[in-house]
Amino acid sequence: PKRIGVLTSGGDAPGMNPAVRAVVRYGISKGCEIYGIYEGYQGLVDGGNFIKKMDWKSVRGWLAVGGTSIGTARCMPFKTREGRLQAACNLVKNGIDSLVVCGGDGSLTGADVFRSEWSGLLDELLATDRITQDEATKYNYLTIVGLVGSIDNDMSSTDITIGAVTCLHRICESVDSIGTTASSHSRAFVVEVMGRHCGWLALMAGIATGADFVFIPERPPGDDWETTICNVAHRHRELGKRKTVIIVAEGAIDSSLKPIKAEQIKDILTDRLGLDTRVTTLGHTQRGGSPSAFDRILATVQGVAAVDAVLRSTPEMPSPMIGMSNNQVTCKPLMKAVKLTHEVAKAIGEKNFARAMELRDPQFAE
Ligand code: F6P
Repeated sequence: PKRIGVLTSGGDAPGMNPAVRAVVRYGISKGCEIYGIYEGYQGLVDGGNFIKKMDWKSVRGWLAVGGTSIGTARCMPFKTREGRLQAACNLVKNGIDSLVVCGGDGSLTGADVFRSEWSGLLDELLATDRITQDEATKYNYLTIVGLVGSIDNDMSSTDITIGAVTCLHRICESVDSIGTTASSHSRAFVVEVMGRHCGWLALMAGIATGADFVFIPERPPGDDWETTICNVAHRHRELGKRKTVIIVAEGAIDSSLKPIKAEQIKDILTDRLGLDTRVTTLGHTQRGGSPSAFDRILATVQGVAAVDAVLRSTPEMPSPMIGMSNNQVTCKPLMKAVKLTHEVAKAIGEKNFARAMELRDPQFAE
């Protein structure tokens, strides 16, 4: 039988547990043995008790649980060759031939580097007597399948990442709550949301809550944006609105790539319009809590697809990434998706914002 290791890596995202549950249960139903690798890549490097065989009951009740119950970490040792050598040794000693990794672009890139180095790592382990010739022959290739778990929805080649919709719900609930207190006092609020260098959460939250203005990294505002936001807020007030809500992505920038910060916007609204303004940084409340029905389902169907991809894999095939496109589960080359994701950052760095927006989401490019 295939022996599949499953791990979660990078920032946790609601839906990671349902993803692991699906890999465990569907894998078992297909005759595979499934191993939970605890604490992300750190568990792979440390081995021992961090690698545990999972059974049907190991994941009972996990659909509704937020975060990741097998733990996650942003692991430095795995970024070194020595760390990856140790990780390879642990996989071979546990008889694991495939890995399903649920994480963001950094975590998935790490997985693919590991796979590309695999035969060199085995040679070194054999040369230093850490594995036997039989083991080196038996584990001559490693299958990697990526599941994209990230609240940021910043990965190219997939419409949506596991956790993003739950996070968006959480933001909307918070902005709605802010709305009632804002209206009561006729106040303005600047709400900072997560997303790293991606504006998806901010943009969607702006649409879903009817915010007055949204700042995102992919489309910086015009040069005199201070005047623009004042005009917009003023116009909306004249129409009878008793609140002003501005959503700012944590990675928002102006057209010269300088960060735009919530406090700065607050000062503008206060000084120029005399609005009583507060800043709310939603922080990690956005990332925690139970996954939405959408994320539970997305993670489940993608977890199933990940096991199928493992079972179909051959040494010649590039590592696949399970995604979603036009409501269909997709299986695309992982490194191509990572490359496109990095191209967004490059386009922003070159001030080619139209290209960044197009790469991010053609629907919003115009
Ligand atoms: O990538 C997920 C994310 O929540 C980002 O939106 C945010 O920038 C970052 O992780 C926060 O990281 P940490 O939890 O390490 O503070």
